[in-house]
Amino acid sequence: MSRTMVAGNWKMNTTPTQGTALVREVMEKVGNPPTKVVFGVPAIQLLAVQKLVEGHPNYAVAAQNMHQEQSGAYTGEISAEMLVDAGIEYVILGHSERRDYFAEDDELINRKIIRALEAGLTPIYCCGEKLDIREANNHEVVVGKQVEEALSSLSPEQVAKIVIAYEPVWAIGTGVTASKEQAQAMHDHIRRMISNQFGSEVAANMTILYGGSVKPDNATELFAEPDVDGGLVGGASLKADDFAAIIQAAGSRRS
Ligand code: PGA
Repeated sequence: MSRTMVAGNWKMNTTPTQGTALVREVMEKVGNPPTKVVFGVPAIQLLAVQKLVEGHPNYAVAAQNMHQEQSGAYTGEISAEMLVDAGIEYVILGHSERRDYFAEDDELINRKIIRALEAGLTPIYCCGEKLDIREANNHEVVVGKQVEEALSSLSPEQVAKIVIAYEPVWAIGTGVTASKEQAQAMHDHIRRMISNQFGSEVAANMTILYGGSVKPDNATELFAEPDVDGGLVGGASLKADDFAAIIQAAGSRRS
């Protein structure tokens, strides 16, 4: 099974009308994609976008968040079961914006991952260090700790169902991308950790995405690295031409 994937994270952008048009445009440009393509859309658009990708097995939809409880008095929240019933396959968890603006930590993210897996969703778990940590050369320790906490108490079978996205916070929305060497080094580090803790087969099959200012002009070289299996793409996923070009770059990485 291919590890390659390109996931778009639209964040709080596009109205339902704009979002539907964007998905149609991407699908028209790309046709049958050479890699798994996931649209991470605002909650209000999940059902409509899911309808558009239905019957196209290489396209899927991700929620950008979900609640850690199954149901109950949590006004404004969305549960894993609701997502699954709506046909949604993926959920982005642990994004740095959720950590920074909504005080999510790895203990909470761990609960969300467990809930998502129990319900049958595939979590796209985001980790990544801030600039001061990178400058202090502490990034492998910090990201390692994030991954360890987020995956704590999970079985190898559960971890095998997770996608990890390494997103250095200093590269998100800044136009500064990690170099291919920096991305590869961290992806290798994460894969080794997974191997040590959950077994070499789980590690070898795991999709590890890079995120942080992925653009058409840097995607090919990033995705050429042996442990960079594709991208989690913010800004460039909002432009059909750019997102289509990034999808093609991921498709050609192991020809
Ligand atoms: P960016 O965002 O591509 O705009 O840097 C990536 C992300 O936040 O997932």
